[in-house]
Amino acid sequence: MLPTIEWRDDAVVMVDQRKLPAEETYVSCRSAAHVARAIKTMVIRGAPAIGVAAAMGLALGVKQSSSTGTQKLAADFYKLCELMAATRPTAVNLFWAIDRMKQSFAAGVTAGESVDQLKARLVAEAAAIHDEDVASCRAIGAFGASVVPDKARILTHCNAGALATAGYGTALGVIRGAIEAGKTVAVFADETRPFLQGARLTAWELVKDGIDTTVITEGMAAPLMRDGRIDLVVVGADRIAANGDTANKIGTYTVALVAREHGVPFYVAAPVSTIDLDTRDGWSIPIEERDGREVTHVKTVRLTPEGAKVFNPAFDVTPHALIGGIITERGIARAPYTDSLAAIVGRETVAG
Ligand code: MRU
Repeated sequence: MLPTIEWRDDAVVMVDQRKLPAEETYVSCRSAAHVARAIKTMVIRGAPAIGVAAAMGLALGVKQSSSTGTQKLAADFYKLCELMAATRPTAVNLFWAIDRMKQSFAAGVTAGESVDQLKARLVAEAAAIHDEDVASCRAIGAFGASVVPDKARILTHCNAGALATAGYGTALGVIRGAIEAGKTVAVFADETRPFLQGARLTAWELVKDGIDTTVITEGMAAPLMRDGRIDLVVVGADRIAANGDTANKIGTYTVALVAREHGVPFYVAAPVSTIDLDTRDGWSIPIEERDGREVTHVKTVRLTPEGAKVFNPAFDVTPHALIGGIITERGIARAPYTDSLAAIVGRETVAG
């Protein structure tokens, strides 16, 4: 299993995803602020991994607090929650993880726990979030294997793999699950401009696992699907609204449209923590806009002329009508998603 993120000797250690595949180096975050910066600058990225990082960052920050009273510790904790919440706006797993840490902290306070007990509780909660994410990904893989035909040629976009989660992956978890179920698969990895998660990260982890991998540029997906060379598309998600509209890496919507045009099944794979029943539809999902430099430059080399404007939204929304199924650790949700997602989450949709 790839080491995406771990808690080691009171530091949050993560593989630096900005440098892969050229260098496999690790960043050791020794403060909550350092973890927040790592999320923002994409040392670590991918919705579930961002959630795990935020939880560990909160645990680390609280553990380092010099406050001796519960009230002061609570003030420190809630300030750190704000810091984490300001890192990236689209992946709902970030806010889910912060909420879960808040609930744990509140339960400890209600139980009258000491400052040391509260600190230990948050470290344990972050570890649980990490371990549960790996278990969820494995279950997603097991459910997802059922939609993968033998000898499938699967197209994926961005990186929804071990690197984007605590391990195993969501979309790549489906691929790993199919292989574990004895199927043969070949993967086409969209390059995924501008951060190149597909070309750099998906290809890196699949090749490491010995999985047949072909990197394609975004524009090649349409002719491949037209020519009948793709059997299935599986992508991850950053936020799934109550009606099934799904935010994922920019370019996913185009892939979904092309898949519909050519009759290729299009699946989303994501843990329940990515489902946001409080967001009614895709229009209500906040879309992060990142620095134009990601588009104008490759490393230090400028690609575009000075003076050309840049638009760099990091995500787009695929309408639910284009999605054949949403593969979760509790089963596969099918249309109508308003009903199936509420049943999977286990509560009523409250989005107005
Ligand atoms: O900007 P990123 O790299 O964080 O975007 C990641 C994606 O869009 C992934 O597909 C998504 O988070 C799912 S990861 C299991």
